[in-house]
Amino acid sequence: MGKLLVVGSINMDIVKKVRRYPLPGETIKSLDLTYCPGGKGANQAMAIHLSGCEVYMVGAVGQDPIGKQLLSHFDHLGVNTNNIDVIEGTSGMAFITVNERGENHIVISEGANANLSKENVELVIRNSSWGEGDTVLLQNEIPWTVTKFVIEQASCKGIQVVFNPAPALKIPENAFSLIDTLILNETEAQYITGMKISDHAEALKAIQSLINRGVKEVIITLGENGALYLNQDQDEIFQPAFSVKVVDTTAAGDTFIGTFIAARGNSYLSTDHCLRFASAAAALTVTRQGAQSSIPTIAEVETFLSDQVESRLR
Ligand code: RIB
Repeated sequence: MGKLLVVGSINMDIVKKVRRYPLPGETIKSLDLTYCPGGKGANQAMAIHLSGCEVYMVGAVGQDPIGKQLLSHFDHLGVNTNNIDVIEGTSGMAFITVNERGENHIVISEGANANLSKENVELVIRNSSWGEGDTVLLQNEIPWTVTKFVIEQASCKGIQVVFNPAPALKIPENAFSLIDTLILNETEAQYITGMKISDHAEALKAIQSLINRGVKEVIITLGENGALYLNQDQDEIFQPAFSVKVVDTTAAGDTFIGTFIAARGNSYLSTDHCLRFASAAAALTVTRQGAQSSIPTIAEVETFLSDQVESRLR
């Protein structure tokens, strides 16, 4: 199995649970407040780690007490922190409001993520121990210049590039062919393709347009409507979502992505299998509160999947 590298954001999430969102100008009380390690990069790295794979996280935290907490959280769980920069200023923070339906509003304050040093990233990616068969996973919560640099370097070295363009921004045309796997939700897909997605047929058209631009394989996650996969050979897979009681959808997409990539590393697992595994992990995530606090272990995912089979046989 190749090595897995995540280059991305690390945040502390400040999560407030509310009965309903306030109207403009209105003040409401939250039901509770929790601090939970988050950030799309860190969440995806954690999902890989909890899937039982070694992961190398490249990112930055600030020289503030939150930065220390975020680092010790990784250390405590055994995630390699050698490539995390500690830089002047504050750490990334995400202010998350979750309503009773488990939906969220997220406002991020980029902090150190916005100043992730290209030098550190360059050092890691140019390191001769990274090459053919390895995979790098990126999101959009660090500067695009760094992301672009990593995509270009990785594709020169034969490293598989997996990109989750979240939050969405326009991808320059010449970058599409350097991306092996693009994983995005329907909102991001609509923004990037400019196409409306309200059902599977429209999602498939949007995926096809991304494949036509040079991406080798694309997954669009559709929340409770499942996930759609298509590759350049026109292999198409639909993975339905598992039905669960939703508590908080935060990090469901990150869990899906990290788990999918970890499962992909096992050459004996088919793409169908990896999608089912990722979807089960995401389902478990939405039944729990918070970002990294909600990501299941591989054992939990396996138990969930065998329970599903048993309940179908009953
Ligand atoms: O995808 C969820 C994540 O988005 C949260 O953990 C928050 O930190 C933001 O980055």
